[in-house]
Amino acid sequence: MQQTKIAGTGHYVPDNVVTNNDLSQLMDTNDEWIQERTGIVERRWIQPGSGDSPSTMGTKAALKAIEKAGIDKTEIDFIIFATLSPDYYFPGPGVMVQEQLGLDTVPALDIRNQCSGFIYGLSVADQFIKTGTYNNILLIGSENHSGGLDKTTRGRGVSVIFGDGAGAVILQPAQSGTEGILTTHLHSEGKHAKELALIGPNTEHWVDKILEEKNPEDTSYYPYMNGNFVFKHAVTRFQEVINEALKAVGLNSSDIDLLIPHQANLRISQYIQKKMELSSSQIFNNIQKYGNTTAASIPIALSEAVEEGKLKQGDLLCLAAFGSGFTWGSALIRW
Ligand code: ACO
Repeated sequence: MQQTKIAGTGHYVPDNVVTNNDLSQLMDTNDEWIQERTGIVERRWIQPGSGDSPSTMGTKAALKAIEKAGIDKTEIDFIIFATLSPDYYFPGPGVMVQEQLGLDTVPALDIRNQCSGFIYGLSVADQFIKTGTYNNILLIGSENHSGGLDKTTRGRGVSVIFGDGAGAVILQPAQSGTEGILTTHLHSEGKHAKELALIGPNTEHWVDKILEEKNPEDTSYYPYMNGNFVFKHAVTRFQEVINEALKAVGLNSSDIDLLIPHQANLRISQYIQKKMELSSSQIFNNIQKYGNTTAASIPIALSEAVEEGKLKQGDLLCLAAFGSGFTWGSALIRW
């Protein structure tokens, strides 16, 4: 069956750099705590009024990926958009990208799998390419976290971690049987849904109810994260799902040329690196600059890794993610 290759990568982040010291002006936190617990030095937050949104940032990243793939945008025959922070409650941002790129009636699919969204999207795209349904799939991960964070001391356990940005790839049929996506693996465990979630507004809590209550103490409109619980599950699931992928194709962790883990927390990445016995040159992290950008983190990191020449033809690339849902997944790609 036809394999799927990544033909082009691109990313876009807002200009507005927010340092840990900037955050300490908003809430009771400090650079030392944030760097020690997360590795994050700064992140990008959308400047209100700048015009940046999940869909517009996604489109900017997409245009770069299209250029790198050397195709015309009109050759795109399917769009997949992964985000937890859509422009609107509905419709999803996939159709907005379709409109912004002027792609006539090309289908657009929205993926709601948070930090694993890009890998879920990659797996879906892979099936469509393998079956010969589509030839140029645009896959985007994009997030506007900053607009919805509790930027007071009450929300500091969550708000210091997240950043905004977008990454995109173009997926095409591989030229040879040796290159491209070798395997993808997806999982979920809904019993932990509320450990990392944004509960309100929801379909039981529509706008009239919100306005009626007008309760400033109601934190359900901000993301909630049981940080320690999520951390413990993340370090286990990351390793499991990477090993599952390696086993499926008969390879070992020493065969990995580059691991790009979802940028959740530098300490999680370092823990996985140690457990999988990978050297520093076998793992790519950029959370220091961007924070956790959820569905955008892997495609932004992949785009930067490509720009920095970290991947050469024939390399084994491993992508892995874990996040809200819980959902997690992995992919092995022969570059
Ligand atoms: N600045 C200063 N102090 C803080 C801050 C802050 N920003 N945030 C919390 N603290 C305090 C807490 O109040 C607590 O104080 P106390 O001991 O007096 O009660 C202390 O620091 C320790 O807090 P913890 O929450 O236990 O800190 P922890 O070491 O667990 O680090 C963190 C928190 C960074 C969130 C970590 O748990 C983590 O990274 N978890 C996993 C995140 C993740 O992987 N998410 C999945 C992907 S995201 C997605 O899917 C959307």
